[in-house]
Amino acid sequence: MTQLFINIKELVQVRDTSVKKVSGKEMNILPTIKNAFLLIKNESIADFGLMDKIPEFTVDKTIDCSGKMIFPTWCDSHTHIVFAGNREQEFVDRINGLSYEEIANNGGGILNSAKKLQVTSEEDLYNQSAKRLEEVILLGTGAIEIKSGYGLTVEAELKMLRVIKKLKENYDIPIKASFLGAHAIPKEFKNDKEGYINLIIDEMLPKIKKENLADFIDVFCEVGYFSVDDTNRILSSAKQYNLIPKVHVNQFNTIGGIEASTKQNALSVDHLEVLNDEDIEHLKTSETMPVALPTCSFFLGIPYTPARKIIENNLALALATDYNPGSTPSGNMNFVISTACIKMKMTPEEAINAATINGAFAMNLSDKVGSITKGKLANFFISKEIPSYNFIPYSFGHNQIQTIYIKGKKASN
Ligand code: NIG
Ligand code: FE
Repeated sequence: MTQLFINIKELVQVRDTSVKKVSGKEMNILPTIKNAFLLIKNESIADFGLMDKIPEFTVDKTIDCSGKMIFPTWCDSHTHIVFAGNREQEFVDRINGLSYEEIANNGGGILNSAKKLQVTSEEDLYNQSAKRLEEVILLGTGAIEIKSGYGLTVEAELKMLRVIKKLKENYDIPIKASFLGAHAIPKEFKNDKEGYINLIIDEMLPKIKKENLADFIDVFCEVGYFSVDDTNRILSSAKQYNLIPKVHVNQFNTIGGIEASTKQNALSVDHLEVLNDEDIEHLKTSETMPVALPTCSFFLGIPYTPARKIIENNLALALATDYNPGSTPSGNMNFVISTACIKMKMTPEEAINAATINGAFAMNLSDKVGSITKGKLANFFISKEIPSYNFIPYSFGHNQIQTIYIKGKKASN
């Protein structure tokens, strides 16, 4: 089926196939075509250009987009949307004065989610997660990474990863799975962290490989969780199974996780709320994508990733939600973009680049999504009538999306 979208007020993020990511000053350039057309053939983008120069096409359907803009769908490269239940009580506890760390030390936090997930059936977990996935697709997300890490036993980690695999099979958006067994130290291993790491390496990793359940390996490299040495050990072991590192680093402390991750050729390092000059120097030596999660900072009231410092050092930056029950119970990329502009002083151009082309890079999906490019998937959305793309971050908390297309098909609830 061939569909032609005409009279597009502005077609946003048009790129040549050779552009895989944008860094530094380039992040402030967002290529667009005003008064454009877009041609879709089956699942893919076939052509686009100026309305004035539109060739004669034979098409099955023509859609008039007068007054509306078209954007590639958001690429959310960091989520934990497979979880059981919620943690709204911890939210209230924090309002009443407890810190995220105190809650975790009292048995809340990740261990609380693990307890719930372990007693939830795979079917129930799938249904809860599919609902979240459908919700974020309708908020404009057209490619997503999902982590395990709320299982923390062999059985429960595999259950999470099987749920992600089923989501991959049943939904049209590209989904990547990260194995995050090293998310927290389970209660049973409280005094035997080595024992848990051995379980990850000796039992979980081979089983995950056998069922082909993961694309990436992740570790929560943080004080009280996994050290740099632990991280190195886990990433090195995962290498033999071809799992590429994407690592949680520098959320609360800078302990050398960035240096370790870049040396292990990580695809991305995520969080970076605290970042020192040495960390920046290590990032400069690598192709690793820094990923900021501003709605996590918003929800926990912790510092925001220093986006200006990263960009001014000529580095790239991606934006993602971190959707999870503890630190970010929201999967709204539109709000992520607003928060990045308002709190991190990113320009709308930088934020949109970070949420599309750079997000795609952080999932190894540059050839499929992240821009309006011939041959890429027809994953895009038509906006409501808006004055400019600045209106997306400006009108924070509102949804400016009218229609979403995934692989050329309308997504709806
Ligand atoms: O990315 N930082 C580690 N993991 C999650 C939060 C985990 C939780 O509180 O459930 C994050 O913020
Ligand atoms: Fe996370």
